[in-house]
Amino acid sequence: MVKRFKQRDIISIRHFNKEELLYILDLTKRMEQMDYTDILKGKVLASLFFEPSTRTRLSFESAMQKLGGIIIGFADSGITSVAKGESLSDSIRIIEGYCDIIVLRHYLEGSAQLAADIAEIPVINAGDGANQHPTQTFLDLYTIQKTKGTLEGLTVGFLGDLKYGRTVHSLAYALAYFGAEMFFISPASLRMPRDCIEELRNRTVTCHESDSLSGISRKLDVIYCTRIQKERFADPVEYEKVRGIYRLNKALLEEMGIKNNLKILHPLPRVDEMDESLDRTNYAVYFHQARNGIPIRKAVLSAVLGAIE
Ligand code: CP
Repeated sequence: MVKRFKQRDIISIRHFNKEELLYILDLTKRMEQMDYTDILKGKVLASLFFEPSTRTRLSFESAMQKLGGIIIGFADSGITSVAKGESLSDSIRIIEGYCDIIVLRHYLEGSAQLAADIAEIPVINAGDGANQHPTQTFLDLYTIQKTKGTLEGLTVGFLGDLKYGRTVHSLAYALAYFGAEMFFISPASLRMPRDCIEELRNRTVTCHESDSLSGISRKLDVIYCTRIQKERFADPVEYEKVRGIYRLNKALLEEMGIKNNLKILHPLPRVDEMDESLDRTNYAVYFHQARNGIPIRKAVLSAVLGAIE
């Protein structure tokens, strides 16, 4: 397994089988238990963020530094030669000469694969448009495993922007390995892409679609709530039609009926879809989930850079 990860690009959750996902989760547990401080000493991470980020960028950078590595990069491509018209391809060709690994967030779907095709060093996709966010999925799986005690056979509701939600697409594909039953709850204009549903059904996942949690909530072991992503809409009028459509709060959920051990995840940031009344409940695991970004990204960096047996 060590060999399978060494120098590997991390682009899409589709590229991983169940055994490999479980390996990353085991390695993450080791990262939480052990205090590795210098296994990435001398290694350089280029952190290239062409879209805003708090959790992904800072947890990658923190993980790299905690393991003894060094960071270069940018959080705003406006201060780079991209502003002078340099292409992504040329930027990657140059930057790979300055580092050992690239973490890339970009607004274009397929950008991470493009970068990986160009670079001889490993590229990690930190989110490419509405497509994929594989390391978010690793940490989502880790959070579910830790808080539910298992990944097997869960009933999971995905709520919100399922059309543009890259974290939803990645997590649904991953949970398909674990026999999950999936409920996709969204307005009609933000349904899961048809090809995702088709692929999940081909993998024998039982998929249900609806526009409301009503009548569903009491079946769920996990709710994966997501933000309606204003920035992904080409037409602001379409955004206004669905803005604020879901507003979960403790009283509403308990009135609708939920399992006592329901866990609510959210990749964050949130806007208005999840009320602060949930924050101090046992249902809420989203802040814990964000913290898992550190051990997960330590595991990914050390596996890809071949620093761990
Ligand atoms: N979950 C996530 O990708 O958050 P950021 O956009 O803050 O990185």
